[in-house]
Amino acid sequence: MTTFKPAIFTLFAAAALTACNGAEAPVKENMPVKAETPTKLIIKSDKFTYANYDEVRVTHVDLNLDVNFDAKVLDGIATIDFERVKPDADMLVLDTKDLLIKSVRIFSGGNPEGVTDYTMDEADAVLGEALRIPLTDKTDQVLISYRTSPTAEGLQWLSPEQTAGKKHPFLFSQAQALNARTMAPLQDTPAVRMTYSATLRVPEGLLPLMSASQGAKDQNGEYRFEMPQPIPSYLLAIAVGDIKFKPINDHIGVYAEEYILDAAAEEFSETPQMEEANTKLYGPYRWGRYDLIVLPPSFPYGGMENPRLSFLTPTLVAGDKSLTNVVAHELAHSWSGNLVTNSSWRDAWLNEGFTSYVENRVMEELYGERRAIMEQVLDMEGMKRAISEAKRPELTHLKLPEDMAHPDVAFTLVSYIKGANFLFFLEDRFGREKFDPFLKAWFNDQAFKSVTTEDFLSYLHENLHKDNMEAVTREEIDAWVYGPGLPDTARKPISDAFEVVDAQSAEWVSGVVKAADLKTEAWSTHEWLHFLNNLPEGLTEAQFSELDDTFSLTGTQNAETAFAWYMQAIKGGYDAAYPELENFLMTVGRGKFIYRLYGALKGSDREDLQFWAADVYEAARPVYHPIAQRRIDAIMGE
Ligand code: BES
Ligand code: ZN
Repeated sequence: MTTFKPAIFTLFAAAALTACNGAEAPVKENMPVKAETPTKLIIKSDKFTYANYDEVRVTHVDLNLDVNFDAKVLDGIATIDFERVKPDADMLVLDTKDLLIKSVRIFSGGNPEGVTDYTMDEADAVLGEALRIPLTDKTDQVLISYRTSPTAEGLQWLSPEQTAGKKHPFLFSQAQALNARTMAPLQDTPAVRMTYSATLRVPEGLLPLMSASQGAKDQNGEYRFEMPQPIPSYLLAIAVGDIKFKPINDHIGVYAEEYILDAAAEEFSETPQMEEANTKLYGPYRWGRYDLIVLPPSFPYGGMENPRLSFLTPTLVAGDKSLTNVVAHELAHSWSGNLVTNSSWRDAWLNEGFTSYVENRVMEELYGERRAIMEQVLDMEGMKRAISEAKRPELTHLKLPEDMAHPDVAFTLVSYIKGANFLFFLEDRFGREKFDPFLKAWFNDQAFKSVTTEDFLSYLHENLHKDNMEAVTREEIDAWVYGPGLPDTARKPISDAFEVVDAQSAEWVSGVVKAADLKTEAWSTHEWLHFLNNLPEGLTEAQFSELDDTFSLTGTQNAETAFAWYMQAIKGGYDAAYPELENFLMTVGRGKFIYRLYGALKGSDREDLQFWAADVYEAARPVYHPIAQRRIDAIMGE
């Protein structure tokens, strides 16, 4: 066990810091929200940043950039406004990674103070290079001329051939968790919130989008963007391409390449109902528009909650709306994560666990308990696997250890599903009639703040637990937050639908019925996933073939089902799946699928499979995102 903070102490000590500040005021579109000036002492607790945010805090960043597809770089100027937390601070330390800094000028009250002698530390493989800018006692703005690297981990530059339309190149960013610093010099920590604005110049025929309000092209051919609400740096985002738009309602729509635009608008047509359900449960949507963008298939995530514009993988467009929980998830981050933000990656469950909880509540509102419970059970199965695979027990705590090597470690199903289950546990114990308004008040009271696990625990104590002491004990809470694995107080979801699947499966496995006689006509993707994930070990090749011949699983177009099937095929030695598995690995870049597929191939005791995987990876690697390259390099190198 590492630095274990006695939770009882933190519960009370932190309680004094949290104040409730009254009624909820709906925020109108583009209404600027001032970043809060810290009144309490800021203790630097994020170890994944060089920024001295305990001394100086960035409040606004303006980017003025050329998007240069030939050189694969962003090139221009970042103008940074800041405030002093310590009145005598004489240095601004920013995070950069693989940036070429050309010059730094300092300003005071809008007046130039001159060019300054900045220094750059030696590069660290994870954190990048600290940019140290000396300040006079009047400096309140710095202007940094810089250029990104063509190999920046946060930017993927696709050639025209790598897009569906084949005519124009495409660029998209992925700043979470440590890659905003590969896009611009910033205080790259979720503890700091800033507003931003941007002016972009892009080649003719391309549309730029950002996680901000969308400006039209002006007479100079430039696009202007504004994000008037303070956000953490990991929510800075950009996409540029031959992108078209289709509205879903007056403030929700879909951006995508033409080939998938109509299908995506249809797939995600229920987004407005998701927004309504979220709003009903947790208060107003505060970001103005909510658009979705379907990115090229190399996007390494299912979705990314960039404010006003969630980024999505095209693998969600399954044709039957079966994977739209990812949209519910990214939308839910508009409350949990974007509005109330984890202040370091050790507290990632405050973003992802809360969001997975809200996602499931919204799915229940829209589609009913049956689907919501199926998703809970599937998630629970995945989480149990993640817990059993954890490299050390501390990585199964909700409050993650201080010595995590990389924030990637924080984004396992522990943060997501153990986190969500902690909230299910609280919901069950306090009852929805108390827990729902409590959570709504949390989002409202903490809006536009970055918070820690201890802030949440003290808020829970003050606003719910204190007056309902019989509902839970502090030991039970501590076991969830500061203890390993899944506490036995966890909800045990039971899906009647899956019990029917299990019974059918058992009959087929034991040879009582043929695959063709299984009653699968009414099975949803969820039932298929449960069936496939729970196939017993030791199926014969004939049994694999029978399933495949009957249900055409190899090459199926639903990426989740295909992934579940290929995992079984690798485990069970069903080699007939390999040509289509190769096709899958060559065309899908979503990390959730490909990391585990490569891991299973590499970990197999068959040498031929290990070699085959290495060959496929060599061919596929150039089209994978830099983040996926780094992750799979580690898997294949092991
Ligand atoms: N914020 C995450 C994606 C992310 C995590 C990016 C860590 C960078 C580092 C996003 O909200 C997410 O959780 N996406 C999931 C969706 C799912 C759990 C419904 C994904 O990509 O699969
Ligand atoms: Zn998420």
